Amino acid sequence: MQGRIDRFCSALVPRVPTGQRVLDLGCGSGQITRAIASKGWRTTGCDISTQMLDKARSETGALEIEWVGIDPAETLSLPFEDCRFGAVIASSVLEYLDHPRQALREIGRVLAVGGYLLATVPDLRHPVRAAEGWRAKAVANPVIHAAFRLTPWRGYADYLRLSMNRLDLKLWHEMARSVGLEPEPAGPCEDSLAMILARKNRDPLP
Ligand SMILES: C[S@@+](CC[C@H](N)C(=O)[O-])C[C@H]1O[C@@H](n2cnc3c(N)ncnc32)[C@H](O)[C@@H]1O
Repeated sequence: MQGRIDRFCSALVPRVPTGQRVLDLGCGSGQITRAIASKGWRTTGCDISTQMLDKARSETGALEIEWVGIDPAETLSLPFEDCRFGAVIASSVLEYLDHPRQALREIGRVLAVGGYLLATVPDLRHPVRAAEGWRAKAVANPVIHAAFRLTPWRGYADYLRLSMNRLDLKLWHEMARSVGLEPEPAGPCEDSLAMILARKNRDPLP
C-alpha cells in the first residue's frame, strides 16, 4: 500500500497544486485518501461500501476529509457539482465497474478544466496478469466458479470474476479520449498495476 500511496502522490505533485480538491473515487478504507489529505490537498473520499466508509471515517484522526457514500443504484451519477475537483483518483476501481465508459464521463464532468484523472488498472503487460487472463476466463464459467467457491481459492476466484474489465492500456486510453480526457503516453510496465493519467482540456466534454 505504501508503494501505491507514493505512486499517487508522485503523480499528483507535478500536476495538481496542493490546496486543490481531490476526489478519491472508490476510496475503500481510505488509506490513499488520508495520505493525500495529510500532504495538503482538500480531499473527498467516496465509496459504495458503507462498511468501508465507516472504517475510513473511524480512522480520519485530525485530518479534514469529506466522506461521501455513493448509492450503488446511482453509481453512474456522482453526487458532486460539475468541475469541482482538480483531480480524481481511482485506485483499482475502474476494472470493477459495469459501465466504465459512463464512469469516465462522470469523472470528466466533476473535473475542473485542467484537472486530472489518475487511475490504476491491471497492467496486462505484466506476467501476473497474463496468468490471470486464462484463470479469469475459466471462472467466468458459473460451474467452474461454483466449484472454486468450495475451495480455499474462493476469494481469488471471486476477485477474478469481479475485476472484469481487463483491458489493454490502449483501450483505456481510447475510452478516456472518447469522453474528452486526454491521456498521457503510457509509461513502461512497473508492476502489475498501470497508471492512467488523463487531463481534462476543455468543457463541456463530448
Ligand atoms: C479494490 S478496492 C480499492 C480500494 C482503494 N481505492 C484502494 O486502492 O485501496 C475497490 C473499491 O471500489 C469500490 N467501488 C466499487 N464500485 C464502485 C462505484 N461504482 N462507486 C464507488 N466505489 C466503488 C469498492 O467498494 C471498493 O472499496
